[in-house]
Amino acid sequence: VEKEVPFKTLKDGLLAFTSLEENKDTNGDGDSVSITVVGASGDLAKKKIFPALFALFYEGCLPQHFTIYGYARSKMTDVELRNMVSKTLTCRIDKRENCAEKMDQFLKRCFYHSGQYDSPENFVELDKKLKQHEGGRVSNRLFYLSIPPNIFIDAVRCASSSASSGNGWTRVIVEKPFGRDSESSAALTKSLKQYLDEDQIFRIDHYLGKELVENLSVLRFSNLIFEPLWSRQYIRNVQLIFSEDFGTEGRGGYFDNYGIIRDIMQNHLLQILALFAMETPVSLDAEDIRNEKVKVLRSMRPLTLDDVVIGQYKSHTKGGITYPAYTDDKTVPKDSLTPTFAAAALFIDNARWDGVPFLMKAGKALHNKRAEIRVQFRHVPGNLYNRIIGTDLDLATNELVIRVQPDEAIYLKINNKVPGLGMRLDRSNLNLHYAARYSKEIPDAYERLLLDAIEGERRLFIRSDELEAAWALFTPLLKELEEKKTIPEYYPYGSRGPVGAHYLAARYNVRWG
Ligand code: NDP
Ligand code: BG6
Repeated sequence: VEKEVPFKTLKDGLLAFTSLEENKDTNGDGDSVSITVVGASGDLAKKKIFPALFALFYEGCLPQHFTIYGYARSKMTDVELRNMVSKTLTCRIDKRENCAEKMDQFLKRCFYHSGQYDSPENFVELDKKLKQHEGGRVSNRLFYLSIPPNIFIDAVRCASSSASSGNGWTRVIVEKPFGRDSESSAALTKSLKQYLDEDQIFRIDHYLGKELVENLSVLRFSNLIFEPLWSRQYIRNVQLIFSEDFGTEGRGGYFDNYGIIRDIMQNHLLQILALFAMETPVSLDAEDIRNEKVKVLRSMRPLTLDDVVIGQYKSHTKGGITYPAYTDDKTVPKDSLTPTFAAAALFIDNARWDGVPFLMKAGKALHNKRAEIRVQFRHVPGNLYNRIIGTDLDLATNELVIRVQPDEAIYLKINNKVPGLGMRLDRSNLNLHYAARYSKEIPDAYERLLLDAIEGERRLFIRSDELEAAWALFTPLLKELEEKKTIPEYYPYGSRGPVGAHYLAARYNVRWG
């Protein structure tokens, strides 16, 4: 397979990458694409998948012959599905525009089939309906499993045996969680591979579809100024921070079985870390990138209890409002020890990153909502200006911040002279603020990922060996936490989280950004 990466031109004149390897299964002009959202009555389908599909349609990114089917057990007619979907569609791309006409066109392409997830007969019925829409064309089929993980395999078995494409490609997008630990994840992979080839499986981690996460590699590998600094020689520590200012709100039942380490760290933050730390890939081809990510994961030490602090939010009253404790959620056991917060120190034992702490922090019900990568650089050797004006050492330390969300930005903290006749130093930001620089809305992560799945681009999806390596890092720790029934440090709803996180960081001479 040739590894060269040609460009294709999108309709707005931008260049996008496509790989020759994928060309064998991309869509021909006259081909049809049928997208079945399995679990269409659920939260994710309504909140993210249908709106993302509409945005792709609006942008002209869906093929000419496409059909969308919702599939779930709930009884619904096509019209009822359309009514349900229409409530969550927005004119996201251009808020000033009235996109009612486009919405109408889109909804006319949406249909619904009610069926059980373990019924081959129901999937045969779906297959018949899909065929009618496909009208004898090459039929490419994408199934999006937006259902709880305990029914993944049933649905895959039925879809692959009774509703896969006869003459085109069949792909399945699988939502997280991909197991609870190494063993359950390996069992899930094994079961999936009974029915699908690895290249038909698109394991989604929606953080990989976020604009600033995608931009990480561009930043590193297309700007000469960053790559030479990207190592233990110049970087003191890297922080990966996720925080939400709300609790588990309605998802407590799911969350209690997983906890924040599985929900955010083992997947979203670890994926960002791997992209951040990987060596330069041979090309932008999906396999070359995933090969480099897997090497990073395999070079990391599995976590131990010593490297981690866990917390759980408790009730807090502020301004006359009482915010609930995690265990106030009716779907959560009163004595639950599930962490809603965790901080961890990770290390990559390779030549580039030896000794550099990668600190992760993730929590729900904290004081703000943000996802950030913070890169703190070492002190300037000699530090001429500290000696002259005796300022705080930290003033001289550069920091690169990649704010994934909200209000996307990349800024570099530098030191500069305060203008005037004196000699005082100040700290300023060299700032790429997306809202100021680009008028166009940033696409939602699900738009990018759905489009990639339709186009057969696997770069942003997780390969089974990456998943295995990711679980290997966290499984011993998760088991130990559960076996020892480790009590989390309680923190008030809306606070900055447990103080233990600060002690953990201090052990590595780090202050959280
Ligand atoms: P839901 O709990 O809303 O489930 C989706 C649909 O699956 C339901 O509408 C229901 O449809 C069916 N279903 C639910 N429970 C069962 C069951 N026990 N047995 C059979 N069918 C069931 O899930 P979400 O939409 O929240 O999430 C879907 C997937 O996406 C999950 O794997 C989740 O972990 C993942 N995910 C969700 C996110 C979110 O924000 N919601 C974020 C990231 C990942 P019906 O009864 O009509 O058949
Ligand atoms: C999901 C987690 O994967 O990501 C949720 O299951 C979390 O608990 C969500 O709220 C955060 O995603 P985003 O895109 O809103 O930051």
